[in-house]
Amino acid sequence: MHYERKILITGGAGFIGSHVVRLLATRYPHYHIINLDKLTYAGNLENLRDVEQLPNYTFVRADICDHERMLELLAHYEVDGVVHLAAESHVDRSIRDPFTFARTNVMGTLSLLQACSRVWEQSPEGYRGKLFYHVSTDEVYGALPLDGGMFTEQTSYDPHSPYSASKASSDHFVRAFHDTYGLPIVITNCSNNYGPYQFPEKLIPLFINNIVQGRPLPVYGRGENVRDWLYVEDHARAIDVVLHRGRVGETYNIGGHNEWRNIDLVHLLIETTDRLLGRPVGSSEGLISYVKDRAGHDLRYAIDASKIEQELGWKPSLQFAQGLELTVRWYLEHRDWVEHITSGVYGEYYQSVYG
Ligand code: NAD
Ligand code: DAU
Repeated sequence: MHYERKILITGGAGFIGSHVVRLLATRYPHYHIINLDKLTYAGNLENLRDVEQLPNYTFVRADICDHERMLELLAHYEVDGVVHLAAESHVDRSIRDPFTFARTNVMGTLSLLQACSRVWEQSPEGYRGKLFYHVSTDEVYGALPLDGGMFTEQTSYDPHSPYSASKASSDHFVRAFHDTYGLPIVITNCSNNYGPYQFPEKLIPLFINNIVQGRPLPVYGRGENVRDWLYVEDHARAIDVVLHRGRVGETYNIGGHNEWRNIDLVHLLIETTDRLLGRPVGSSEGLISYVKDRAGHDLRYAIDASKIEQELGWKPSLQFAQGLELTVRWYLEHRDWVEHITSGVYGEYYQSVYG
């Protein structure tokens, strides 16, 4: 089969990656979509059940830190574009275990960059028609005060957590490969995502799950930190747009213009979940439990997304109330998914599908 493009997506079994794989594999049947994932606790092939039978989709279990394997896979599949999402992504875990974050996010990204650089420069057309697309986060910019300001593409890097420090470092390596070797790259820095298939350690899915189970909702500090929330499918659409029309060497910020104080978001989540569960609305308010603050907790994130909006015509499509309702409904209708991924049963699913 001749494919017009061969796109390697790393971390495609994770939360955002699975939405990106689904979008690209279904929208572009003439592209070969290769999903490369190590399947850590956060990677789950059940996220892709509806995609795995598509003829233009291939799954490969591999670790991005395995440089020889990256060289081999890039050459074998004649990859011409990489969308790099594989990472350790949870801030609280990074506080407990920074080494794992440096290994995957920094060394893993370097391993992949070096592999792309080597394989592509040896191909007949060199770097022409190739792209290394690095998916990053707004957390590299640090924190904003409550009373104003937004992150633009010109904001200086000022990461505070081991997670954001590792992502910032990976961004710098990506840019260094562009500036030093001419590798065609593009970077996007996105705000907080929410939606189906997010591992229930992050605020929104954790709290939905705890409301369902009547367990405490651990709000860090006073709940006054602000995050800028974007529905995950809107992020996947933005990635599609940048992959096809983004200017090489550029950075694009992606965000929802949708800032929420954590405690206000928790009230809205309680209201939505109680209503959809048929409980008296507000009956889960008593589950709110203020706990010790996260160390180095960034106060506020807010993205100025005007560059991608004006240059590439991307805009978020969903209002937050709509997106949140879709998300809560999804978690209520997929209790088996939550149970499987939190009990490790998905390992058996992998064995049953891929041996
Ligand atoms: P996730 O934790 O849900 O998924 C990460 C995926 O990477 C998993 O499938 C995991 O198995 C895989 N992976 C981890 N280590 C690997 C390795 N060494 N080799 C191969 N695969 C490996 O993460 P997510 O929330 O979907 O985030 C995806 C990317 O988007 C990350 O780079 C993250 O920094 C970035 N990002 C996330 C958000 C957000 O709100 N979640 C916002 C902006 C940017
Ligand atoms: O901004 C983009 C980033 O958003 C991504 O790069 C990260 O991968 C992603 O995990 C997310 O980071 P946050 O730390 O903002 O997300 P999290 O869901 O962990 O927390 C959101 C807010 O809620 C934050 O202010 C901490 C707070 N929180 C979180 C949890 C898990 C709580 O109050 N209680 C909790 O139990």
